[in-house]
Amino acid sequence: MNRIITKKILSQDVKEFVIESPRIATARHAGQFVIVRANDTGERIPLTIADANPEAGTITLIFQEVGKSTMLMGTFKEGDEFKDVVGPLGKPTHIEKFGTVVCMGGGIGVAPMHPISEAMKAAGNRVITIIGARSKDLLIMENRMKAASTELHISTDDGSYGVHGFVTDILQSLIDKGEKIDLAVAIGPVPMMGAVCKLTKKYDLPTVVSLNPIMVDGTGMCGACRVTVAGKTQFVCVDGPEFDGHQVDFVELVKRQRAYLPQERISREAFQHHEGCCSEK
Ligand code: FES
Repeated sequence: MNRIITKKILSQDVKEFVIESPRIATARHAGQFVIVRANDTGERIPLTIADANPEAGTITLIFQEVGKSTMLMGTFKEGDEFKDVVGPLGKPTHIEKFGTVVCMGGGIGVAPMHPISEAMKAAGNRVITIIGARSKDLLIMENRMKAASTELHISTDDGSYGVHGFVTDILQSLIDKGEKIDLAVAIGPVPMMGAVCKLTKKYDLPTVVSLNPIMVDGTGMCGACRVTVAGKTQFVCVDGPEFDGHQVDFVELVKRQRAYLPQERISREAFQHHEGCCSEK
């Protein structure tokens, strides 16, 4: 159980693990996440389930090495085991036939968008997916997103692939072309989701955002995932992770996300230093 069957490097710092987890593979729905712990003393890391294969009894997890714990996970090899994988957690995405759904994934947010695009398409929607990254080498899951969508568009911030610009530039051009959009879904960095909501609000376009990037312990106990939605405090891990994007206070959210950057940097540097020392031995 919890054994890594395959490991792939998707882009700089982004790794994909297919993990043996038969019960979660059968029970999960689009939008749900698991909590993993690398070892006995490991921090709890919430990761959205990017894919699952109930026949093979496996789930796919994709993560970016941003701090000490994810860097440690990145050193795992095929055959290694996670201490725990708990889930599926969180409310599943509301899937129904809306008509035309635009699914936008930015950076590592493309991974949690994958099961949503797939489920929306399976429910009979016309799914226009827009994926974006800072540059071509950081773009992930292009072929899988193509298969999960009716139509796929790509943007890169530096213009190295697809449209030069942001996912919002492609969304704006779809709106300008007269595309009738019934629902927008966005997952990615908080500023990207904020920008999507600012644009869709102008056109009164219903928008769902997944705030999983701000979760910490995923149990409703640490309080780190507090967010103000429609003037009320919500916990992303318990009440979400998906919310009506037009009701989320993104200004407050961006501020809170920056609160622990210095501590995260110290922890990351300490891990890199330790690993460096060990690998020299
Ligand atoms: S992630 Fe800790 S309370 Fe939600």
